[in-house]
Amino acid sequence: MAETPAPKKLFIKSYGCQMNVYDSERMADVLAPLGYVTTDQPDGADIVILNTCHIREKATEKVYSELGKIREMKEAMAQDGRGAMTIAVAGCVAQAEGAEIMRRQSAVDLVIGPQAYHQLPELIARTHRARGERLAADFAPEEKFDALAQTPRRPGGVTAFLTVQEGCDKFCTFCVVPYTRGGEWSRPVEDILTEARALAAQGVREVTLLGQNVNAYAGEHGLANLAGRLAEIPGLERIRYTTSHPRDMAEDLIAAHGEMSALMPYLHLPVQSGSDRILRAMNRGHSAKAYIDLVGRIRGARPDMALSSDFIVGFPGETEADFEATLELVRQVEYASAFTFKYSRRPGTPAATLAGQVDEAVKDERLARLNALLDNQQRAFNASKIGQTLPVLVERPGRHPGQVIGRSPYLQSVHFEAAESLIGQIVPVRIEAAAKMSLAGVLSNAAAVPEPA
Ligand code: 5AD
Ligand code: SF4
Repeated sequence: MAETPAPKKLFIKSYGCQMNVYDSERMADVLAPLGYVTTDQPDGADIVILNTCHIREKATEKVYSELGKIREMKEAMAQDGRGAMTIAVAGCVAQAEGAEIMRRQSAVDLVIGPQAYHQLPELIARTHRARGERLAADFAPEEKFDALAQTPRRPGGVTAFLTVQEGCDKFCTFCVVPYTRGGEWSRPVEDILTEARALAAQGVREVTLLGQNVNAYAGEHGLANLAGRLAEIPGLERIRYTTSHPRDMAEDLIAAHGEMSALMPYLHLPVQSGSDRILRAMNRGHSAKAYIDLVGRIRGARPDMALSSDFIVGFPGETEADFEATLELVRQVEYASAFTFKYSRRPGTPAATLAGQVDEAVKDERLARLNALLDNQQRAFNASKIGQTLPVLVERPGRHPGQVIGRSPYLQSVHFEAAESLIGQIVPVRIEAAAKMSLAGVLSNAAAVPEPA
């Protein structure tokens, strides 16, 4: 991850009123953390922004004539191999005639109205992606995986991770991933199946499919189909996947949780906040109600589903009422586990420049309240398994002689007395005690229980 990007040149020209001059400064501020330094001439600039004024028709025509000149510079730069210039039209002309500008002057890459300047980093990243440009620091993912395929994996255990997807197109306003990891990319199904077969042949019984937006997996027919193909591999008994975005939770994937016994009943589905106002400012693309409805549909397919989430407290502008809405969402969903974060400013992301940054002490206090609630839920979830007999995949020897450690379908660690020769097998364990992080039980005599459907 490049923390200090190489300097790039930004040329901004303002037309019209003082408001536009102020806005131009704000645009330069938003782009500075991405490495853009302002320059006083458009020729040679990486980005040219014309911040326009619509008051008089003459002003609009001036913009078109300026665009004609800049287009020539852009073409000359491309020809001389001096780089690709991005041309943006901002301001009131952009607002009034967005599509018309792109039609009249095809060299314009993006048009952005005065209400959307905080989205500049996202729009510029999208423009670069559309051109097929890659992040300088990054391999193309397909090349990286081809190179990695030369080195056989030695998992050395009964569980393994398997990357199926990389990158992110969601542009949550707090997050650097879309800028550092690039756009969503899915590994071809056949490559994944080949790697999974090799893992199974080495004794792997459980794979966790990885991706920044794993449920946006776009290979062949999506993640549900991929999980089905993996479940056919002899020896692979359990499939998990993480991290999922609420917007990409397809109905066939939800249904698969009710139909495929290999698909484990644990889902990491980050919500970040329970306040619609904050969710909008985060650019999450879903409301609190949409998330809660989604959870209802998931539990409709798989009633015992264990849910997990990420939360951010103290996002810019978060009020006590917004935070209360997060607590309320947590009470409604009832999580089995969670990861919580205090908002931290990441240079180059839109939220870093938002007004209303929240005081550290307030963040600390909210984090403590949220953690207390989530801890209680985690303990309650674990305790609810006492008395049940769960199928446990035995993973490794325990800390004490004669003890082994495995995992329940719900990703809980389970300690019990048994021979190490059981490592790699799924055995029935009667749960007798629960703590915050783990369960304890005894090997049951019952015939191997099927994974609960
Ligand atoms: N500040 C705090 N938490 C963040 N996360 C991502 N970016 C930030 C940030 N700037 C958290 C989100 C995400 C998880 C992986 O990290 O909750 O889901
Ligand atoms: Fe993408 Fe997740 Fe970051 Fe949002 S938080 S931009 S979905 S990686």
